[in-house]
Amino acid sequence: YHGRGAVVAAVIHSPGSALEPLFDPSTWRLSLLFIHSSGWGSARDVRLSRRALRFSCAFPVIHLDECESTQDVAWDCEPGTFVVADRQTRGRGRGAGREWVSPPGGLYMSWRLGVVEPTGLTLLGGLAVLRALRKWGAEAWLKWPNDCWVGQKKIAGVLADCRWSGSRCSGLVLGMGVNVQVKEPPEGAVSLHQLCRQAPDVAEFGELLRAQLRELLKVHEKMGVSGYLSELRSHSLPPGSKIAYWLGGQRSEDEVADLDGQGYLLLRSGLRLTAVDRLQVL
Ligand code: BTN
Repeated sequence: YHGRGAVVAAVIHSPGSALEPLFDPSTWRLSLLFIHSSGWGSARDVRLSRRALRFSCAFPVIHLDECESTQDVAWDCEPGTFVVADRQTRGRGRGAGREWVSPPGGLYMSWRLGVVEPTGLTLLGGLAVLRALRKWGAEAWLKWPNDCWVGQKKIAGVLADCRWSGSRCSGLVLGMGVNVQVKEPPEGAVSLHQLCRQAPDVAEFGELLRAQLRELLKVHEKMGVSGYLSELRSHSLPPGSKIAYWLGGQRSEDEVADLDGQGYLLLRSGLRLTAVDRLQVL
């Protein structure tokens, strides 16, 4: 495999099939095509041979027409790789069994990271999405911990899957789903193209988002959440807003007080402040 800027002509062999990476220097887009004995297959066959994706490249963005979930594909890639799919057949949302409906027109992207401090990474993903949306004029805000909303409608969500080795995070996949050009977003959701006159195409938005993610990760590696906490606060629900959550199997509602130094949400009930675990918020 020849790296950045070069014409890619190498064939990567894997048991039973071969992959032809096609690199388009004008868009910096890398797609994978399978070569079967019967001829060319398509990148959506990727699940037949996911192991074949375990390779490094100088510009690690892997683009697929379709896959079940980019979260799963990303685990088989080298740290640093982004996996992007035009559509997902089993996209996952936060929380057990939640689906992320993934029609064409959305950005479905997962970023494989290696050993990393996981605290705050969901927020980092959300902030990167907010920055990218705001560059296109959408007044997006963060519904802690992983939703991006514009007004009262959801436009994007973030999902962090972590692997542990004892108490240490040995790897993480940070997934983002953004309604960029989705023509008919689900009820309660909105798409960027409905909000701005000249919305970017999905590839352009993806590039911008990757730049934001890389920039924020550098800050995270040096300073953790504290490096971007004030920006998070300024785009989150203001203190005093009501928020619903589950506690002990019951739905409760309290007032937002603040984000603590690690990015956990602090709720006020009476004189008491409680830090809410991210899985409890509705
Ligand atoms: C949520 O708001 O519940 C999180 C949604 C995360 C969706 C993204 S799309 C890319 C990646 N692949 C998945 O299956 N899920 C995440």
